[in-house]
Amino acid sequence: MRLLVVGRLSGQLATAVKMAMAHGAKVSHVERGDQATEQLRRGQGADLLMVDYRVDIAALIAANENERIHVPVVACGVDADATDAANAIRAGAKEFIPLPPEADLIAAVLSAVADDERPMISADPSMKAVLQLADQVARSEASILITGESGVGKEVMARYLHAGSKRSERPFISVNCAAIPDNLLESELFGHEKGAFTGAMARRIGKFEEADGGTLLLDEISEMDVRLQAKLLRAIQERVIDRVGGTRPVSVDIRIIATSNRDLAKSVAEGSFREDLLYRLNVVNLRLPALRERPGDIAVLADHFVKKYAAANGVPVKPISADAKRALVSHRWNGNVRELENAMHRAVLLAVGPEIDVDAIRLPDGQPLSAGAHGAAVHDAGPAGRAAHVADAVTRAHVGQTVAQMEKTLILDTLSHCLGNRTHAANILGISIRTLRNKLNEYADDGTSIPAPQSGVAASGYAAA
Ligand SMILES: Nc1ncnc2c1ncn2[C@@H]1O[C@H](COP(=O)(O)OP(=O)(O)OP(=O)(O)O)[C@@H](O)[C@H]1O
Ligand SMILES: [Mg+2]
Repeated sequence: MRLLVVGRLSGQLATAVKMAMAHGAKVSHVERGDQATEQLRRGQGADLLMVDYRVDIAALIAANENERIHVPVVACGVDADATDAANAIRAGAKEFIPLPPEADLIAAVLSAVADDERPMISADPSMKAVLQLADQVARSEASILITGESGVGKEVMARYLHAGSKRSERPFISVNCAAIPDNLLESELFGHEKGAFTGAMARRIGKFEEADGGTLLLDEISEMDVRLQAKLLRAIQERVIDRVGGTRPVSVDIRIIATSNRDLAKSVAEGSFREDLLYRLNVVNLRLPALRERPGDIAVLADHFVKKYAAANGVPVKPISADAKRALVSHRWNGNVRELENAMHRAVLLAVGPEIDVDAIRLPDGQPLSAGAHGAAVHDAGPAGRAAHVADAVTRAHVGQTVAQMEKTLILDTLSHCLGNRTHAANILGISIRTLRNKLNEYADDGTSIPAPQSGVAASGYAAA
């Protein structure tokens, strides 16, 4: 975990830094907000900014976002009162750490941000086989393609490979190829020179250079457009990159891990993915089985998540009842580990007795896992209980849904609002039309009916709005 501290390093902040270092953070320091942005732009990345509350946090976050640098900020400060803390949070800080620091709080904040501390939990034989292969190849320099359904743990696996590699002391950088529009992805990956395009106000180092010596995770690589695939292929083959607008190639030393939840061989057949690139990436393929194909993992994962969320919410760890375990193992987890994780998070909060019982385990729509224990008891709970239940149900409509589910709802609602007009929906959603089409194809594959495009009316209606 790389921590960038922004502000004057007076006594108490220095103590906090020492605590962070004791937790394994690599710390660098600048005094002002603009210096922080400059350092990030130069490719000296950070996983977390710890910023003195007297620095203009809103301006710092705005400057970073303006260059698509997304690093979470926590504020800290000596002698800050509640208003200062609230202002920092309003400005976009995720947390406020009062100084003098408490070691526990520093540790909690670091581990909440540090994804690399997510352990790989597994017990099922089919997963053990994949892990054995992963252990064998981790120390090699081979490119690895990790495939599997959404939520199976592809990113966890990528971090596991990096941790087991010779590059573990060097950065692990991930880029989500689906989340960044095509025209920006190139400069995100390869960087750009000042003046390369309108808005390129300063040189910006890309992720390839930031990951130098370490591992670069290209997440959802199937979404990368074909032109960029050519540039990526050259980068992998020749180990040099060209910054956008650059005049000379820059050599890089990185190992590539890519993920996809699509069948890339099919994408090759359809012409949306380069075959030569697939060969380059797919030196080793780790296919992660869906959670329903590895029932032996369900109980250990559920126990792990109960501990994790009990600790995060400051509640005691309760054991999962035998009934609940049976229900968990027999459920078909279409959202895979992520869905199980969300369900256990809710269960930790909902469980009332000494154990986590079946009726505490709910699906995102609030339905219990088993048809047996329907929430009839709620209606005996009096007006307060009923009100709480209603409020809870409203929150639950969002909380616990996966981002993928929320995204699907948002996309389909926006599309029907635009009477099926893809271009307008993509504009409103702020995604490329290609990404939108890919998403819609995915939903159609799962049997969802998609609003068909309609003629002229909708277009003018939207343009007027
Ligand atoms: N083996 C595991 N042990 C512990 N936690 C896991 C494991 N596998 C997945 N998780 C947890 O499940 C969630 C989803 O995992 P991850 O993000 O790695 O999935 P993914 O395959 O990359 O999903 P997507 O295709 O949607 O990007 C994460 O919160 C992760 O920490
Ligand atoms: Mg992922």
